[in-house]
Amino acid sequence: MQICIIDDNLVNENIGKDIFMNTLEHLIQDDYNIIMSDIIREGHPTLREVATAIVEPISEEYITLGKQMLQFLENSQDPDIAQELDLRGGVGIAAPQLDIPKRIMAVLIPSEDEESDEPKLREVMFNPKVLSHSVQQTCLKDGEGCLSVDREVPGYVVRADRITITYTNMNNEKIKMKLRGYEAIVVQHEIDHLNGVMFFDHINEENPFAINPDIKVID
Ligand code: NI
Repeated sequence: MQICIIDDNLVNENIGKDIFMNTLEHLIQDDYNIIMSDIIREGHPTLREVATAIVEPISEEYITLGKQMLQFLENSQDPDIAQELDLRGGVGIAAPQLDIPKRIMAVLIPSEDEESDEPKLREVMFNPKVLSHSVQQTCLKDGEGCLSVDREVPGYVVRADRITITYTNMNNEKIKMKLRGYEAIVVQHEIDHLNGVMFFDHINEENPFAINPDIKVID
């Protein structure tokens, strides 16, 4: 008599699913605020995985997760809340950084005009794709940082200066968007997370600040 059938693949898949669902349920609880301990750090294998696409239309749970990620960015940019919750300021976060290997990211880029409350970009993107990018490249003068990296990694991170992307938004609408400069850099940094790429992978190890003179360096 066969008492039980053990199929390793099935068991592993189920275990994987359970762990991941627990994390998702934890993060989308009512009134929960994402904090730094929810964010995995470099060395964690999920940061090196290629995240899987979200089935569309996007389900309520993933939309709630997207809202929570955007709320985290908002909290992290509010000096009082950031201090209270001990958050590092961020302009972007990707679901793999929360140990959820799914193609979801949020960006919140504040206005350069301090008088204005209207952010330059405030969006949750599901299944984002880069359709095209400029030949012109750019990088930030001070390099990049990451919520998953607790150290400074100096060096120019060279990226496309302009990109055209598509994604699905929180209203399940397909959006096409053109971005340039800083916004394009932030979005490329987050899309990299969906592909298991870290910003420092782009830095020239031999000479971190050596770049071709054609590359635009922005403040
Ligand atoms: Ni990052």
